[in-house]
Amino acid sequence: VVKEQGHDNMSKQDGFAMKPVGVIHSPFAHQSGTPIQPVFAEGAQGTIEVYPEYKDGLLDLVGFERIWLLYLLHCAPPSRLRVIPYRDKVERGIFATRAPCRPNAIGLSCVRLLGVAENVLTVADLDILDGSPLLDIKPYVRDFDSFPAAKAGWLDARRVNLTHADERFDTRGPE
Ligand SMILES: C[S@@+](CC[C@H](N)C(=O)[O-])C[C@H]1O[C@@H](n2cnc3c(N)ncnc32)[C@H](O)[C@@H]1O
Repeated sequence: VVKEQGHDNMSKQDGFAMKPVGVIHSPFAHQSGTPIQPVFAEGAQGTIEVYPEYKDGLLDLVGFERIWLLYLLHCAPPSRLRVIPYRDKVERGIFATRAPCRPNAIGLSCVRLLGVAENVLTVADLDILDGSPLLDIKPYVRDFDSFPAAKAGWLDARRVNLTHADERFDTRGPE
C-alpha cells in the first residue's frame, strides 16, 4: 500500500515552508491610508494573479460573490504580543486583534470577486498592500462563515471609529 504523502512536516515545532500561489496587486503602496478591513474599503479594486501552475484550482470559483484571501503581511513590523490596535486606545493581546505585527504575519481578508479571466481574478474591497504574496483562496460561504450575533469582545465597545490605517504599524513611509 502506497500512502499518500501528507503534511507531517507541518507538525514540527521549528516551523515549515509555504509557497505563495500568487500575488495580490492593489492600489495601496503604504500602510497609512489603507483601509483596515474590507468592510471599510469602499470598493477599492485590484487583481489577484494566481501563478499559472495553480490555475486549474480556480475551476468553479465563478458564482461566489466573496472569497477569503490568506496572504503574507510581507511589510509588517516585527511581531509584538501586545499592541494598541487601530480601533482602541489601550493595549490588547495580539491574538485578540487583527493587527499586522503577528508572530506569523498572515492576513485574512474577505473580498468581493468581480471576475475571473484565465489566472487573474478581479476583486474589490481590498485592505491589502500591493505585492502581498498570496497563500490561499477559499470561497466565502454565508452558511459556514457568518455568525452575525457573535460577541466581539473589546471591539463591541466601539471606542475608536478608525476606518483607514494611521502610521502606527508603518514600515513604508510616504513617497
Ligand atoms: C488591520 S490589518 C487587517 C488585515 C486583514 N483583513 C486581517 O484581518 O488579517 C489591515 C492593515 O494592514 C496593513 N497591511 C495590508 N497588507 C499588508 C502587508 N502585506 N504587509 C504589512 N501590512 C499590510 C494595511 O495598513 C492595512 O490597513
